[in-house]
Amino acid sequence: MLAMELRTIQSARPSNNSLSTDYSRIGLSPFIKWAGGKSSLIDHLLPFVPLRLSNYYEPFLGGGALFLAICGRSTKFNAFLSDTNRDLINAFMIVKTRPFDLIRRLARLRSEYKATRSKEDYYYDRRGWKPRTLLDLAARFIFLNKTCYNGLYRVNPRGVFNVPFGHHKNPRIFDEENINRISRALKDTHTRLNAVDYKKSTAKCGPGDLVYLDPPYHPSSRTASFTDYTPNGFVQEDQEELAEVFSQLVDRGCLVLQSNSDTHLIRDLYRGHRVQSLLVNRPINCIGTERRGFKELIILGIPTRNRSRHRLKHYSQTILS
Ligand SMILES: C[S@@+](CC[C@H](N)C(=O)[O-])C[C@H]1O[C@@H](n2cnc3c(N)ncnc32)[C@H](O)[C@@H]1O
Repeated sequence: MLAMELRTIQSARPSNNSLSTDYSRIGLSPFIKWAGGKSSLIDHLLPFVPLRLSNYYEPFLGGGALFLAICGRSTKFNAFLSDTNRDLINAFMIVKTRPFDLIRRLARLRSEYKATRSKEDYYYDRRGWKPRTLLDLAARFIFLNKTCYNGLYRVNPRGVFNVPFGHHKNPRIFDEENINRISRALKDTHTRLNAVDYKKSTAKCGPGDLVYLDPPYHPSSRTASFTDYTPNGFVQEDQEELAEVFSQLVDRGCLVLQSNSDTHLIRDLYRGHRVQSLLVNRPINCIGTERRGFKELIILGIPTRNRSRHRLKHYSQTILS
């Protein structure tokens, strides 16, 4: 088994001095706040992404922090982005195809919200609204995400969004320039968006494809982590099945990158793959109580024929040592 290392964010900054990157698009950031969002891990994940990419798959999309960071480098690749959350995928779809209309809708929601005396009443009013168009659905989704409690997404058994009001002082509901840039990046990468399970969206991945898996984390204790993105949650059997899919993808020639929590189960499931441990400060690692250091793993699955030093020269020094 390959050596596992415990490093902290401070001590383990990847050395990527050798990367010659195009930072012209830098500044893309998720247009939503998402539990388990990977913005704080980007410095550690990005060096594992080859500079030359043809197909990129992100089947647990959430806010898509890694996809956006890759686009900050270059958009010369094809992207396949998916998630089981239909509202989320619809919002990405609208950002891609109708950014101008979306910004107009969001601007209206923002000015109504600012003008209203009771922000809380306005929030519950919008939460109860049942939009008739995909455009309004996307605007409502983004508005609620920015004004609800902690940017959480939770639905009741009937699939109705039920997160309470967030009491934010001055929420930034949207950033027009960021939405326009993301729209451009989604178009430039010919992004295909799908609201499907990760097994379906990765079924056709093949040699040379990069697959980034960021599943709901395996909780380190019963209350330590928020994994209920979907009505059924993501339980131990799902983690086990994911580990099988991970190995199958590697066997099919894909380079597979995964982030997950550092628990006995996850270490056991990925025995034999390259694993790096990090200590991260997560803004949302559960529903409001524990916000301290959180041990996470980056797991790398490299297809056998790509394991030579020559092919790995683009990746971070940390995985070569
Ligand atoms: C940890 S979050 C991803 C966060 C994302 N990387 C980011 O930067 O914001 C996990 C995502 O997986 C999605 N999900 C849960 N079960 C899934 C499944 N079986 N197939 C695909 N997506 C799933 C959830 O809706 C959630 O958006």
